[in-house]
Amino acid sequence: MREGKPSLTAAIVAAARAIAPRRRDPHASNLIDGPLQGVVRAVAERPRLREVCRRASLGLVDHIALRTAAIDAELEAAIADGITQVVLLGAGLDARAWRSTGPEVRVFEVDHPDTQRFKRSRAPSIGAPTYVPVRFGQERVADALENAGHDADARSFWIWEGVTMYLPRAAVTDTLEQVAERSAVGSRLAVTYVTDHGPPIPALERVVQTGFRALGEGLEATYRPHEMAALMDTQGFSVVSDRGSDEWSQDWGGDPRWAGVLLGGERLCVAEKT
Ligand SMILES: C[S@@+](CC[C@H](N)C(=O)[O-])C[C@H]1O[C@@H](n2cnc3c(N)ncnc32)[C@H](O)[C@@H]1O
Repeated sequence: MREGKPSLTAAIVAAARAIAPRRRDPHASNLIDGPLQGVVRAVAERPRLREVCRRASLGLVDHIALRTAAIDAELEAAIADGITQVVLLGAGLDARAWRSTGPEVRVFEVDHPDTQRFKRSRAPSIGAPTYVPVRFGQERVADALENAGHDADARSFWIWEGVTMYLPRAAVTDTLEQVAERSAVGSRLAVTYVTDHGPPIPALERVVQTGFRALGEGLEATYRPHEMAALMDTQGFSVVSDRGSDEWSQDWGGDPRWAGVLLGGERLCVAEKT
């Protein structure tokens, strides 16, 4: 993260959700600004530009569309199963609080204070989540959630989307420990992580590494699926599914072939507290 500045990757992901081939996030364009907002608005006016963006982003738009659809499906299932407490870890400019949950669901958004400050200045206050500023690895997310009114005795649905790759392993382990501390039995966690399975064209690996570093959010750690499962296990979570973009729902219209170009190594692990 660039000190004092909101996350740029959060803005890019929100823009991708606004440009997605289907469904699309109607809130995203209001949550971003600058040239990215210009691109999103131009695509809305000239739909042919959508195809240009899908390709120019080297599949990032498709990757995010699939990732969001996969997590939305898990969230819908959790809510249908009676979970009424949702925590977004590293929420960024995700608009799930407005687009995917009803009034019966309480949403907590945990994020770096710099990103959260920016989001709060743009997001609607009606239907707003409870904002919980935390620096992962430096501040205790468990204490911050307790103070914000999170109920550790009720089941939670945790979403940790597109964040673990930017954190050192120690910060991931530390945060997971605290998530477990506040997870009643039956709570679920949907977490994405990046494996060492890089882009299909090896030269693109350097593009990915350099690109993220230039954004001030370099990629810190990769995990193999069995490592992620072991990490979950140590915290009392049992893996329910672990899938890559080729198996994710295509609800938002993303194409797995495009999704694999840059970030095909990202997977979604869903686990339940036992
Ligand atoms: C790629 S964005 C993902 C945002 C959101 N989950 C989404 O999918 O739209 C990464 C998010 O991680 C947050 N983040 C990165 N490092 C962090 C840290 N050390 N503590 C708290 N949040 C952090 C950023 O503020 C940003 O919101």
